Amino acid sequence: MDFKVSSPADLAHVASGVLQLAEQEKVFLFYGDMGAGKTTFIKHLCSVLGVTDATSSPTFSIVNEYNSPQGSIFHFDFYRLKQESEALDMGYEDYFYSGNYCFIEWPEKVSNLLPEKFVKVEIQLTENFERLISANKI
Ligand SMILES: Nc1ncnc2c1ncn2[C@@H]1O[C@H](COP(=O)(O)OP(=O)(O)OP(=O)(O)O)[C@@H](O)[C@H]1O
Ligand SMILES: [Mg+2]
Repeated sequence: MDFKVSSPADLAHVASGVLQLAEQEKVFLFYGDMGAGKTTFIKHLCSVLGVTDATSSPTFSIVNEYNSPQGSIFHFDFYRLKQESEALDMGYEDYFYSGNYCFIEWPEKVSNLLPEKFVKVEIQLTENFERLISANKI
């Protein structure tokens, strides 16, 4: 499903739509260029899910954990990963297969470790600084 985003004010509505489309699927992969708006959109998903702690980019660690009424939410940013073995070392499987929400930025860095099923979210900048957010269950 495609969502047009004209301003950040649209993101809460789009986040609700993407969560509905996901149904029971908890693993979300975010594709998009640097600065496309992955972290920003994840913030809105967390907010719809009831997270009240501050959600920022996991700058100092590969994974951040947030509390929500439905349990922990894990937010990954694999941008700085040099090799997939670093994800093995951090025990990525315990997170990916935990049944908790996992929001993953730069999944390209762990392309061999991705689960079979996930929600693929693609964010593209279009003309006039608008964004197109496409979400599909894989
Ligand atoms: N829908 C939007 N409309 C306008 N500005 C936005 C939107 N989404 C994000 N931005 C702005 O774009 C900038 C980059 O956003 P963000 O950090 O979310 O990108 P990112 O895809 O996570 O980047 P990175 O690959 O570096 O992690 C921020 O300044 C943010 O406020
Ligand atoms: Mg980011």
